[in-house]
Amino acid sequence: LPQALGPGAGLIRAKAGGLADATAALVSGLVDLGAEVHVAMPNFRRLFQRDHLGRLPDEVINSSVHPHDQRIHLADDYAFHNLGRVYSDNPHECLHTALVFQREVMQQIIPKVQPDIIHCNDWMTGLIPAMAKRRGIKCLFTLHNIHSRDITLEAMEAAGIGAADFWNQLYFVRPPGQYHQCRSTVPVHMLGTGVYAADHLTTVSPGFLQELADGKHHGGAFLRGEICQKMAAGRASGVLNSPDPSYDPESDPSLEVTYSDHDHVQGKAANKLALQRELGLEEDPDAAIFFWPSRLDPIQKGPQLLCDILQRTVSDYWDRKLQIVVVADGPHQHLLHHINNYHHLHRRVAIRDFDERLARLAFAGSDYMLMPSLFEPCGLPQMIAPLYGCLPIVHATGGLRDTVRRLDSENSLGNGFSFEDPNAAGFRWAIDEAMWFHLQPKEIREREITRIMRQSRSEFDPARFTAGYVELYERLLDRPVVAPT
Ligand code: GLC
Repeated sequence: LPQALGPGAGLIRAKAGGLADATAALVSGLVDLGAEVHVAMPNFRRLFQRDHLGRLPDEVINSSVHPHDQRIHLADDYAFHNLGRVYSDNPHECLHTALVFQREVMQQIIPKVQPDIIHCNDWMTGLIPAMAKRRGIKCLFTLHNIHSRDITLEAMEAAGIGAADFWNQLYFVRPPGQYHQCRSTVPVHMLGTGVYAADHLTTVSPGFLQELADGKHHGGAFLRGEICQKMAAGRASGVLNSPDPSYDPESDPSLEVTYSDHDHVQGKAANKLALQRELGLEEDPDAAIFFWPSRLDPIQKGPQLLCDILQRTVSDYWDRKLQIVVVADGPHQHLLHHINNYHHLHRRVAIRDFDERLARLAFAGSDYMLMPSLFEPCGLPQMIAPLYGCLPIVHATGGLRDTVRRLDSENSLGNGFSFEDPNAAGFRWAIDEAMWFHLQPKEIREREITRIMRQSRSEFDPARFTAGYVELYERLLDRPVVAPT
């Protein structure tokens, strides 16, 4: 698990993506309700080591690790010593780390904590539901993504996980026609095992669950049968994530000026200026800023679409002063820089590595947020952006479809812009729609942004999200659901 969050000040936030944000929101919500929550994550030594200036690596935010906080469990093993990043690019290292982590959780942490329920997240924890079943502990498995890895029984044994006791809970990937292969060499699908063995499955949005059941996702197609069965048995549900409560423009310390839905006009203007100044963009209060917050992951997030439209969009709206801000890492960053340099767009386009503070400032200083994901299990930026009065522009898929509705400023409905076909023309069409709105009279724009900020606060309320999980936990334990007070 890439993130652990203790109560109050005892906080470790080692973050590598949305899973971290979503987990943090859930854990703090549960702690607030008085639940006894323990968090397990690998003790990546390098991750928690300060450098000679006393700084922690970028992935660790606000780390004030409380070594005596009994609720944070750092699984320890030599395998974690040299890893500096939460996820390694080396697939073998990744797999081995995941296996060792799961072994440590089951052998060291679970016996100590003796939980009622284990809540697992994604493929890295896929074997835990299978192992927990033998000990009679209920397991909920959350699918944040369909990425997975295969593992053989041999490799499991090598990492100290004896599969003999629970092999009937494993989800084997049998290549067609090879049913008689020796069992120890048939790959086990980690995510499939989690889905199969869990007492309950959740996906991070209802829309994504339905898409998996409909076989819409290439990578998830073979899990379809498993997922449909669980749905039919009432053992699968979509629970929409909620952003971490720290995403609040009224209190966010990363902003130049904090603001609320009453004074967003002045608040956003001050943050826009600060953002433009910091990024070397033209300092212009009338510029329409479009912000890209997500990893530039070509398989999921659609950065190629941004490359396709970047130059044309900026030049078509040159007089309307359109600016684009990217705060994200990934292979496409290189390409974006190249386009930028070639067309001399520097005063209109800024591209920076991911940085949490800068991303927060960009939500506050921007008018629109770009998220043309090819697929999206949930997505958090489209929920964070409207809290900051920044309207989302998304491809209608998974959790994006569940959360973004077309803005209709005449009737004061909707909260953003979305397009159906994930191609450059679709994306550009949605940006044009946003620019059309941008050129509406100021009073209309301001009124709509006030409304959207206000509605988003109740729609994406973390209490709703936490309550959804509390209900599932209670059901798994056959206990009556008590409404939170
Ligand atoms: C993964 C998914 C993303 C989701 C996040 C948190 O990063 O890709 O859609 O919002 O997990 O659940």
